[in-house]
Amino acid sequence: MNRVLRVGVVGLGYWGPNLARNFNQLPGCRLAALCDLDPARLDKMRVLYPDAACYVSFNQMLEETNLDAVVVAVPVHQHFPLGKAALLAGKHVLIEKPLASGTAECEELIALAGRRGLTLMVGHIFVYSAAVQMIRRIVCSGDLGEIRYINSQRLNLGLFQNDINVVWDLAPHDLSMILFLLGSSPSAVNCQGHANITPGIEDVANVSLSFECGRFATVQSSWLEPRKVRQMTIVGTRQMIVYDDIEPLEKIRIYDTRIEHPPHYNGIGEFQYAYHYGDSFIPRLEQTEPLRQMSQHFMECIRSGHPPLSSGERGLEVVRILEACSKSLKTHGGLVAIHPAAEGRRQAPPTNLKRLAHHT
Ligand SMILES: NC(=O)c1ccc[n+]([C@@H]2O[C@H](COP(=O)([O-])OP(=O)(O)OC[C@H]3O[C@@H](n4cnc5c(N)ncnc54)[C@H](O)[C@@H]3O)[C@@H](O)[C@H]2O)c1
Repeated sequence: MNRVLRVGVVGLGYWGPNLARNFNQLPGCRLAALCDLDPARLDKMRVLYPDAACYVSFNQMLEETNLDAVVVAVPVHQHFPLGKAALLAGKHVLIEKPLASGTAECEELIALAGRRGLTLMVGHIFVYSAAVQMIRRIVCSGDLGEIRYINSQRLNLGLFQNDINVVWDLAPHDLSMILFLLGSSPSAVNCQGHANITPGIEDVANVSLSFECGRFATVQSSWLEPRKVRQMTIVGTRQMIVYDDIEPLEKIRIYDTRIEHPPHYNGIGEFQYAYHYGDSFIPRLEQTEPLRQMSQHFMECIRSGHPPLSSGERGLEVVRILEACSKSLKTHGGLVAIHPAAEGRRQAPPTNLKRLAHHT
């Protein structure tokens, strides 16, 4: 029988309490410790989880609580120092997105976890959602034809951050989904943005991603939008998908829509296109909480030693793109080439949550 794993959560601001709730509910897991610099946040959590030991000092939590794993949900510039300290203390680590503030930090965390035989995972939550898993299965089935283009929009009012811009805050979600769906990383990036509210911190931005084989993707991120928009369009040569994460049930709609080049055309330059409008179809999705799936997967990977679906390497891929975006922003959208990791092309990801633990 599996031993109960003892988990501590550091960072109990906006997002950390959701992680604490999930780990507290997982079978085979005990929420053993909580940590935040702010004692008022700890007081609130103490009421909900009276059995968890509470700390304002992260190092003290590491020393005193005999944890198996640590979940890091602090501001992004703190991901690396806290993640590194936890790995050095021999803990398995789940770090919220993005994995760290730069590629060098990501590489150090990956190497450290590798040397110590510890699980390092990044909170790319959407790759654990039923909708994105379903889209991935449809993409793998070939029903869409060849994927040519993906557009993703993540827009809302705030939450304004003062240490990272909107690309580092929101785009990791879109980028992790795009890489998961395409099974590859882009070779070049352009990013344009504008700081409307806080000087020097872009609050609206557009990212373009160019992939080998002519694939293309765009990501729009904004903290200056009256509506909450979470939409993605996946365009294949045969069919297209619109994924709307705001929809409670009908999140995915598959359109049998395409543009065809008829074989005959009249004269040079007179191309004709045929617009095919077929049916649309809404597949049924399992009602699962992505955060629960992600937390459970972390526990399974610790037990099995298998690399997580959102491993440190996947975190590094996203941070590599974010760094390229920051470079491109400085030249108002100049093209920045991305050099892939030495590991080469990534493996095709799994299409079934039950088999997540066996893949990178
Ligand atoms: N997956 C998602 O959908 C999602 C959503 C929101 C935020 N996040 C991620 O979660 C992380 C936290 O974001 P947030 O919005 O909750 O931030 P937040 O500012 O609301 O909360 C951060 C908390 O960390 C605490 N903290 C900071 N440094 C600390 C330290 N050294 N030791 C202990 N506590 C410390 C702060 O006191 C604060 O309570 C970020 O990485 C963010 O990207 C993920």
